[in-house]
Formats: sequence, C-alpha cells, structure tokens
Amino acid sequence: MTPVILGIETSCDETAAAVVEGGTRVLSNVTATQHELHRRYSGVVPEIASRAHLERIVPVIREALAQAGIGMDRLDAVAVGHRPGLIGALLVGTSAAKALSWALRVPLLGIDHIVAHLHAASLDGGGNGAPDSEAPALGLVVSGGHTSLFQVESPLRVKLLGRTIDDAAGEAFDKAAVILGLGYPGGPALDSLAQTGNDRAVDFPVATLGPESLDFSFSGLKTALLYEACGRPSGPGRYERGAAPLSDRRKADLAASFQRAAVAALMGKVRRALDRTAARTLVAGGGVCANSRLRRELSELAGERRIALRIPKPQYCLDNAAMIAGLGAVKLNAGEADDWMLAASTQSAVASGWVQV
Ligand code: KG4
Ligand code: ZN
Repeated sequence: MTPVILGIETSCDETAAAVVEGGTRVLSNVTATQHELHRRYSGVVPEIASRAHLERIVPVIREALAQAGIGMDRLDAVAVGHRPGLIGALLVGTSAAKALSWALRVPLLGIDHIVAHLHAASLDGGGNGAPDSEAPALGLVVSGGHTSLFQVESPLRVKLLGRTIDDAAGEAFDKAAVILGLGYPGGPALDSLAQTGNDRAVDFPVATLGPESLDFSFSGLKTALLYEACGRPSGPGRYERGAAPLSDRRKADLAASFQRAAVAALMGKVRRALDRTAARTLVAGGGVCANSRLRRELSELAGERRIALRIPKPQYCLDNAAMIAGLGAVKLNAGEADDWMLAASTQSAVASGWVQV
C-alpha cells in the first residue's frame, strides 16, 4: 500500500506538518521555526513554545495540504510525534492529530520522535544513494535534545545501546556558540566558522567514560571551551578574562578545535558500537547530522569499514514532520495504529532492551 499520510511534529520549538506518500515520497514539508521567540533566552522556553504551537498548528497543517495539492479527503492516516519532548508542546500536536483523525475517520499513528530521526535518511531517495538498510544496523541520533546509539533490527524495532549522560551534542554546539558570541541556535554558525580555523589550536578533552561505555558526555568539553575563551573562574559568575573580546582568528580556532573534539567524541562511540554489533549499515539522523565535519567523518568511516551509510539530506536532519509521516507509513503497513488514549510523553519509548515502537 502507498498511503498518503499527514505528519505532525511539535515536540520542541518547530511547528511542522508534512504530507508523505508511500513512506518516502515527500509531497510537502512545512516547518514554522520559533527561533526568533527563544533567541533572547539562548534556549527554548517551554511555555512560550506551547503557546506558539497553538497559534501556528492550524495554518501549518493547511499549508502542508496546500503545498501537497491535496484535500483532507485524500489522507489515509494522521501520524504525530507524541514522545519524547516538551509536554505542553507535544500536547498541541497530539490533540490536533487526534481531532483530525477522528473527524476524517482515518487511523491515528503515534510516532517516537527519536526513532523517526532514523527514518529521515529514507526520505526523498536520501541515504547517500545507499540501498535500504541491511540488518543489523547501527543507529546514531544526534540533535539538540538527544545523543543516542541504537541497534536497529527494523524501522520499528530498536534497542538503546548508549546515550548522553549530560548535554546532547547539539546542545553543546549551541552553548559553545553562545560562549563564542555566535548567536542562537549556534550549531550551523559554529560549523561555518570552524571551516576557517585551525582545529589543532587547542586540544580539547574527548570524554570516553571508560573502556566499555557507549554513553556520551559533552559537559566537560563545554566547560573546557568556556575556560579557554574566558579564563578560569575568579569569583561567582566571573572569569579571569571576563568578557574581553576574542580576536576573529582566535574565535575561529576555538570553533574548529571544539568541533574536532565534539565529532571525535561521537565517532569514538560509533566505532566502538560497530565493533560490538557487527552492523552492516550505519543510519544517522538529527540536527547535528547537518554538521559538515560529522558528515565527512561518518562517510570516511563507512568507506573504511565497507558498510552502507544512510544519512538524511540536510533539510531532513533537523526536526521535521516528513520523518514522522514516513515512519507512520511503516507502522500503518505493519497493521498497527493507536486509539484515542494515545498520550504525549516526555520520555522516549526506547529505554532498555528491545522495543517495538
Ligand atoms: O534535530 P533538531 O532539529 O532538534 C532536536 O530534536 O533537538 O536539532 C537541532 C540541533 C541544534 O542544537 C542545532 O544547533 C544543531 O542541531 N545543528 C548543528 C548543525 N545544524 C544544526 N550542529 C552542528 N553543526 C551543524 N551544521
Ligand atoms: Zn529531533
């Protein structure tokens, strides 16, 4: 079956809706970002996010249908990212999806946002031209909210192998960008500044968390950058060099060195997990997969190990509703659907052991 599915995504600060046919053909993909509302706080404020979702959700859904050139009567199902995320934000999307699926009498599909990031590589003939995932696969999700490794048996059946014990990788990029005065969200700005810097200027720490761990940690790296930029603490909220401006050359060097360490931290665990799982395919997803250095190193590693790399096109790395609709089609084709009891949850379904999402 090649169902036409409306996907809805409101887990954090993007209000998004998309129409996807057959799980991979994106007919429309609309995202209203809220960056301008959160910029002055250098981070997402949950209550502001929920209110903005409420205002935007209906126009965004209308726009997704208009761009796909279809009426609501063409929809075979409504899929929604209902976990994990900010609870007030998730409730807006989940309620909208329930209302639509009830009114249209089509199935409701609750989708785990993190697992959907792994489906993004399949959208629009993505995946670097690699064939469909060959099991067993290793999944890497790196975003502003999550940094996790998964063993992937099928798009709906995964097992958590490791995750960050403090900051997510994207969060570390964003905080590093604030330290360097690059604005918010800073990942893309830091990435482009890093292109002009010397990545060996500073040898930042790369957390390994012992010889066995597949978990990640980025808080030490972030603090090391803070001390390198501003000096050691000299009193409450004060640093040796305070807010003394960094030269452009120094900023670029710090950005490049930070990026080298952050990517090394990710790659070290990916290598370790590949050794353990004998995966034939590496599937990546999440906003940080838009990072030029991470993309390059993942692709080099895949070449070295002779495994397939499936990584989304840059527009599907960041939060979007096409990945929700796409994974929704897989779920629908597996004969599964949810009922009106579908609940929003701050936690991913994938916690320990094998999980069918
Ligand atoms: O997947 P996403 O849209 O949201 C979450 O699910 O969290 O990821 C957003 C994150 C932000 O932290 C942003 O700074 C980061 O992805 N990001 C990048 C790049 N582009 C986006 N980080 C590093 N380099 C990039 N080019
Ligand atoms: Zn995400």
